[in-house]
Amino acid sequence: MGKEIYEKIEEQAKPYLDTRCNEIHVSICYGMAERLLSHYPDADPEVVLPAILLHDVGWKMVPEEKQLSAFGPRADDLETRRIHEIEGVRIARRILASLGYQAEKTEEILSIIDGHDSREEALSLNDAIVKDADKLWRFSQVGLEVDVKRFGVDRDRYMRWLKKRMSGWLFTSAARDLAYRGLADAGMPTKDEADDGDLPGDGQGLP
Ligand SMILES: [Fe+2]
Ligand SMILES: [Fe+2]
Repeated sequence: MGKEIYEKIEEQAKPYLDTRCNEIHVSICYGMAERLLSHYPDADPEVVLPAILLHDVGWKMVPEEKQLSAFGPRADDLETRRIHEIEGVRIARRILASLGYQAEKTEEILSIIDGHDSREEALSLNDAIVKDADKLWRFSQVGLEVDVKRFGVDRDRYMRWLKKRMSGWLFTSAARDLAYRGLADAGMPTKDEADDGDLPGDGQGLP
């Protein structure tokens, strides 16, 4: 399948991505997904790439003042986080149907979107790659700066928190390599200071 279909999906996703820095989030995640796909030839780009392009369209249905309680190190609003998944499935279904996307792949894409944040395990290699590409945003230079600012956290401390959580979030070894590289490029302090990886006021946070 040519690249044009992904451009068409992206075009239809765009109106839903102008919130929560999602245009840049999704474009960085898309690049990460392409890099991961190059390591895992058994994964299916026709599932992974549409799922990444559409995974966060549901945030558009969540008022901006509620978004920050539903993701990040201090988040605790599981219900709002769940809403963005449910709305995402609804919107993605409509977009993929309007493009006549293959039915079986559509169902797999929708099941990935449905649990992309709330489901802790990966259903398949395709799902693992989508989950990892989504989380790798945090380890990209742009993602790191955006998150430090919007979460109002100390940069070095946030990086130590990411490093501590990384192994619980990432499924593939290629993603772990990219995450380590991202932290090193961002100047991750090499010495591990006393275990202060939890941010002030942080329970578990919502990945
Ligand atoms: Fe999400
Ligand atoms: Fe995301």
